[in-house]
Amino acid sequence: MKQRIFSGVQPSGTPTIGNYIGAMKGFVDLQDKYEAIYCVVNQHAITVPQNPKELKHNTKSLAALYIAMGIDPDKSIIFVQSDVPAHAQAAWLIQCNLGIGELERMTQYKDKAAKQESISAGLLTYPALMVGDIVLYDAAYVPVGDDQKQHIELTRDFVDRFNYRFGQGKDLLVKPEGIYPKNGTRVMSLQDPTRKMSKSDDNVRSFISLLDPPKTIIKKIKSAVTDSIGEVHYDVEKQSAVSNLLEIYASLSQRSIDSIVEEYQGQGYGAFKNDLAELTVETVAPIQERYEKLMAGNDLQDIVTDGATKANKIASETLARMESAMGIH
Ligand code: TYM
Repeated sequence: MKQRIFSGVQPSGTPTIGNYIGAMKGFVDLQDKYEAIYCVVNQHAITVPQNPKELKHNTKSLAALYIAMGIDPDKSIIFVQSDVPAHAQAAWLIQCNLGIGELERMTQYKDKAAKQESISAGLLTYPALMVGDIVLYDAAYVPVGDDQKQHIELTRDFVDRFNYRFGQGKDLLVKPEGIYPKNGTRVMSLQDPTRKMSKSDDNVRSFISLLDPPKTIIKKIKSAVTDSIGEVHYDVEKQSAVSNLLEIYASLSQRSIDSIVEEYQGQGYGAFKNDLAELTVETVAPIQERYEKLMAGNDLQDIVTDGATKANKIASETLARMESAMGIH
């Protein structure tokens, strides 16, 4: 039997090329080797305020993007988190086995809390929901970007704790491992290379969304910050902005950073940026074409309904196992 992988993306905006490079591109490659389960994690998105209409649209849109990108619903399960009640139910069991101190140490919590006027309890307990997403499917691997490493570590700690407390010598839950990409595990903002590229950034010039029209992509890449050194060179300390563009280039072209550096030697940034813009447009154009068709057609609803049925079956069995071990069912 194939091992399982699980991953999710929040519909808190349209995915960026950061999400694509850091995680989603890998989803497609991994679906042949593993039994893959990909989730639109809409319950995670509401840990910060969302416009309900936009959230609903973004949820559908993300499911369409998964398929448009190349996730094949005949091979992989694609579903929406709120269609599977076991996620919220498991999150409660998990919260009761995590410490507030552990949750307060999560950097994603600290970063997001710093941006909120009032912090929801859900923002703090968010990792419990994420731990549940993963353990409910006995996932052996979780393809994610670098910013989720801490959450994966927490999941691993939780599994050890749960098995120790309730397993009576047996491993009730599977301990997962993260899978991280070679290049672009942390794609940075095009306007500030000290900050992560984020789909919810107020400055739309800081990210490229998978649904940006070609003209916008070209404009955003041309106006990406660089430096006054004027040489395409990979040096994260001294040339962080150019190094970030190089990582994007390497990931989208599947070439090595060294070969790209060599190609643009002595040419300044103009040609490099033009080619990167072209490469990005070429990457997203076919995705956008398939996306438009899916959004206009009737197949999408059937695909996520079918995905939820399959996901429900797996998740409810694990939930029952957890509840029974804890003596509450
Ligand atoms: P989210 O929605 O913020 O991001 C989705 C995926 O994209 C990766 N990512 C990036 N990779 C490289 N550079 C960036 N700038 C960048 N920004 C985001 C993220 O690492 C992620 O893999 N908590 C998760 C969603 C989640 C999840 C899960 C993931 C909920 N439950 C279970 C895996 C398994 C999140 O906020 O992703």
